[in-house]
Amino acid sequence: MMTSNAPTTTTSPISAEDVKPLTELISAAAIAEIEHWRGKYPPERKRPPIIAALKIVQKEHNNYLDETVMNALAVYLDVPPIAVYEVATFYTMYNLKPVGEHVISVCTNLSCMMCGAKDVVKQLTERLNIGLGETTADGKITLVEVECMAACGGAPMLEVGEVFHENLTPEKIDAILQTLGWEDNHG
Ligand code: FES
Repeated sequence: MMTSNAPTTTTSPISAEDVKPLTELISAAAIAEIEHWRGKYPPERKRPPIIAALKIVQKEHNNYLDETVMNALAVYLDVPPIAVYEVATFYTMYNLKPVGEHVISVCTNLSCMMCGAKDVVKQLTERLNIGLGETTADGKITLVEVECMAACGGAPMLEVGEVFHENLTPEKIDAILQTLGWEDNHG
């Protein structure tokens, strides 16, 4: 999904002097993880590791991506910044602005919509008192709408922290919120 807060794109390579080295922005373990993915491709194929690398960088950067880390990644992988921005703006799993401690991603695509995604969104927005794309006042939960997550057989579904919750019912949604500590603090 394209987002309106995408960074200004450029097709030119960025000079390493213009950006902070990635090694200063994320942990050595995260760099090693990126190297693991990089090692799966021939050295001349520089773009395929971008998807995995962005996930790793996001995890290390308060669960969102900004120009600083994306430019640093572009320099690190030796690709034009636009190659990184294109991936980051295409997939909804990347957050391009700060998000809450937990992100609830609700699928509202066809199968989920036909199986009650509208009611899922209604229950969540009412319980959390926020709209789609918003974060609760305490910074705990961000609610986002996403495209099909290839779990149509379990529609309606949502994802929290890379865990799919399928065949949602009002009770299941309440239980999910409870595991995120929402019920205890705000119920
Ligand atoms: S439509 Fe929701 S997972 Fe496919």
